[in-house]
Amino acid sequence: MSGISIIGTGAYLPEFIATNEMFTKFIDTTDEWITTRTGISERRISQDKPNFVMAAEASKEAVKNAGLTAKDIDAIIVSTCSPDFFYPNTACLIQNLIGANDCPAIDINTACTGFITALDIARNYLAADIYKTILVVAGERLTSQIDYEDRASCILFGDGAGAAVVQKSNGLYYSHMGAKGDMLHDLYCKVEYNRNNPFYIGDGILKDIIDTPQKGRYLQMDGKAVYKFAVDAMADAVEKVCGQSGFDINDLDLVIPHQANLRIIQSALKKMNVDESKVYTNLEKHGNTSSSCIPMCLAELDRAGRLKRGMKICLVGFGAGLTYGACIFEY
Ligand code: COA
Repeated sequence: MSGISIIGTGAYLPEFIATNEMFTKFIDTTDEWITTRTGISERRISQDKPNFVMAAEASKEAVKNAGLTAKDIDAIIVSTCSPDFFYPNTACLIQNLIGANDCPAIDINTACTGFITALDIARNYLAADIYKTILVVAGERLTSQIDYEDRASCILFGDGAGAAVVQKSNGLYYSHMGAKGDMLHDLYCKVEYNRNNPFYIGDGILKDIIDTPQKGRYLQMDGKAVYKFAVDAMADAVEKVCGQSGFDINDLDLVIPHQANLRIIQSALKKMNVDESKVYTNLEKHGNTSSSCIPMCLAELDRAGRLKRGMKICLVGFGAGLTYGACIFEY
């Protein structure tokens, strides 16, 4: 078995804290509604730093904690669905900011499932002995895509970045991933291209999405549909990945789910029959930071000295696409 060893983690959180109370000033909501329906009390919003700068900060910490320098990184894989540029990609921007060598710099986007996907790609590069040390990063500034008049979605999201330096190990590793592209309408954010292009004649397919003016540029979500999908998809992905490994979920030491909504996590846990004490959450303080949630959890646990070599960890997530995925690895 070829596994992964996470040899350093890092995270960056913007300074500005947006409390639930602040939302009551501009939308019809209450702290009580947000807390009981989502488990979120506050989230961070980046007022000054673009996504790639936050991601570079998390990367620097991860490299430092690995006892390495940026020159030791052989490849950078970044998950983001809220990049600052169409191009260059965020990985190239991070490579430049942290002072890495001319290594491959790759972005991927499976929305909130992205860190698990990026880690899975890294694992396969490592297993094939193509690279020795890979920096896996998730950076998200989703608040730049939010309609702050939409009370059902604006209260959910925050900004932040997380990173991990990974190398090959002899430990176990299993993953299961998938996507349901037919559920695209349930969660999406459209790119606004130049509509004054004289050659633009409109798009026949997805006309309802493509032709949406104004608000169409913001994140669009059917909360109930995503909620239902998330509970089923997370439970199913964990069952599949446990099936491959032969483990019962309760044989594992730690489960880190995507931090979208505490009620989603609790419902999925119930379906998985997992002991709640094994599950780590931090959404109360950070909200949903998309693909950054999981590496930010890892960095928090690492800083608290709670990650021990040999621990069996399950990461599980879902996101726009709709995508889903889970992996089990030995820390
Ligand atoms: N404050 C007060 N009331 C609100 C509100 C808010 N911030 N947001 C929505 N409501 C209202 C609704 O308008 C609705 O009112 P109505 O009954 O008069 O129509 C009522 O609360 C119930 O709405 P409902 O959609 O049933 O609430 P819910 O319990 O499903 O919670 C979400 C809404 C969005 C929190 C929940 O569906 C969710 O978390 N979905 C998943 C979203 C997600 O995770 N997205 C990211 C995936 S990566």
